[in-house]
Amino acid sequence: MKIINVVGARPNFVKIAPIQRALTASGKFDVRLVHTGQHYDAAMSDVFFKDLGIPSPDVSLDVGSGSHAKQTAEIMTRFEEILIREKPDRVLVVGDVNSTLACSVAAAKLNVPVAHVEAGLRSYDRTMPEEINRMVTDTLSDRLFTTEPSGRANLLKEGKPDSQIFFTGNVMIDSLVYAKPALERSTVLSTLGLAKDEYAVVTLHRPNNVDQEADLKRMLGILKTVARSLRVVFPVHPRTRKNLERIGAMSDLTSAGVIITEPLGYIDFIRLIRSAKAVLTDSGGIQEETTFLGIPCLTLRTHTERPITVTEGTNTLLPTDSAVVEAAVRSILDGKYKKGRIPDLWDGQAAKRIVKVLTDA
Ligand code: UD1
Repeated sequence: MKIINVVGARPNFVKIAPIQRALTASGKFDVRLVHTGQHYDAAMSDVFFKDLGIPSPDVSLDVGSGSHAKQTAEIMTRFEEILIREKPDRVLVVGDVNSTLACSVAAAKLNVPVAHVEAGLRSYDRTMPEEINRMVTDTLSDRLFTTEPSGRANLLKEGKPDSQIFFTGNVMIDSLVYAKPALERSTVLSTLGLAKDEYAVVTLHRPNNVDQEADLKRMLGILKTVARSLRVVFPVHPRTRKNLERIGAMSDLTSAGVIITEPLGYIDFIRLIRSAKAVLTDSGGIQEETTFLGIPCLTLRTHTERPITVTEGTNTLLPTDSAVVEAAVRSILDGKYKKGRIPDLWDGQAAKRIVKVLTDA
């Protein structure tokens, strides 16, 4: 069976790595990897291929950045040509980025079956571009691989047949388990002059947190408050950096003692959060990685599409209010924060289960 795996943006690389490995190891698939080029910087793309042992893409579409419509349309146009040329039996997409949506639509229109890994997650907030991407991709897919029970419940509510839904676990955790030996070799803590449990890691890149000046300034206020009780390390996403520079806030952060870095590679980033006292984020995947590692995660959003990280894991949703975040950090420092448990099937074997389903189909 010829299968095209699609990646485009940073979180996709982490998800595709174990699937690519398991599909190849099964010996039953002719696997092609297409990189749309949605993310193109070395720090946002190349380092992940290296850190996760992903083979070079068979095809690079080199679409780059653009408005949602432009980027999506460009990916669809270029991917359609690949589909016509390669004639795959199936396309596999992961996550919820624009590349996921664009390639699902292009494939479905040519009657190529689509498999979606990380299906059924819903924030029920359609102002998030990812929510639209998730809904459309799931509608078009006939193999829906879920990471947590909410995924199946959401998909059934939307009328998807139970026979197309497979609870296979979390491939992001497969990557984490795979990377364990390499974590020991990372020198990121000594390079940044940090010691275990003495710092918090911050990541911010959601458009509704960083694109408008007022929202971004509220975030900066929170960071400065946290920096009074813990060292703060902030690897800055390109979108966020552009906005911080536009309002001239970079020096403001460094003078508050915040350690600013470029986006980190996978191994260094996981090593950094594994030894952190706390993580503050608006990312989706980091909510899951911290739950697996047992690290307190304060998510600066009003809802999450990954509710199990809150109900079973170490995640808490917080409003963007300095006093509320400060109180949460205090409870972590006082040892009063919840401990959490690792959700079912977050065990490093998800990709194998996915491949079994694809093989049996
Ligand atoms: C995308 C995903 C988001 C994911 C995030 C992880 C969508 C709608 N969003 O958001 O779900 O959580 O990736 O990082 O697909 N840029 C660079 N270099 C790069 C990539 C981007 O400088 O390699 C800059 C460009 O100025 C670009 C901006 O970042 O315009 C935003 O990139 P884009 O891919 O549109 O969305 P992200 O915010 O990265």
